[in-house]
Amino acid sequence: MTEFMELVRSRRSVRKFTGGKIERGHLEICVEAARYAPSACNVQPWKFVIVDDPQKTGSIVDSVFSGPYSMNAFARGAAAFIAIISEKQGPAPRLGGILRKTDFRLIDIGMACEHLALQARELNIGTCILGWFDEKKLKKILSVPFFRKIELVIALGYPASDTEYRERPLKDRREVVAFNEY
Ligand SMILES: Cc1cc2nc3c(=O)[nH]c(=O)nc-3n(C[C@H](O)[C@H](O)[C@H](O)COP(=O)(O)O)c2cc1C
Repeated sequence: MTEFMELVRSRRSVRKFTGGKIERGHLEICVEAARYAPSACNVQPWKFVIVDDPQKTGSIVDSVFSGPYSMNAFARGAAAFIAIISEKQGPAPRLGGILRKTDFRLIDIGMACEHLALQARELNIGTCILGWFDEKKLKKILSVPFFRKIELVIALGYPASDTEYRERPLKDRREVVAFNEY
């Protein structure tokens, strides 16, 4: 197996962390990988807010993943968070998106997140991409303007020792891959 394929296959969502701090340089490398992701018309419609201040991570775990969002309460153990905010898109991808009935920014951000998660995996940092969180509270904590949207949050931390990078259950290849015809 190629090293790349090994990296891809061993990236799993991590939901149990040691509590160990992640050095800022490593968080920056992860975001650097995300910055290199492709985006429609190269608009790079994202902003990454890295949260490593313990006071802020504390406020996040206390309020952003509680109540109806408590299925993600495991994020309490994360050492850092990265919030991904969608930014202005530019006329070409916006028009293209309207015609194609899609928002290309979400596709762009999805790819950036995977770049980030793979880079983190290479540094032995566990990640979990989170789409379910109290956006209103998080916006307040991070001073995100009301007219912007936080699309995703990534929880990061060193995986607890009993967290294994096990093989994931995948759909059968024939179900999801076809040559020349749907
Ligand atoms: C857009 C998106 C949103 C997600 N939201 C959550 C979430 O809110 N909580 C959670 O525990 N996992 C979340 N996940 C992680 C998925 O559950 C996980 O990627 C999937 O089950 C496959 O497992 P794997 O990442 O270990 O391969 C999300 C993943 C994506 C791509």
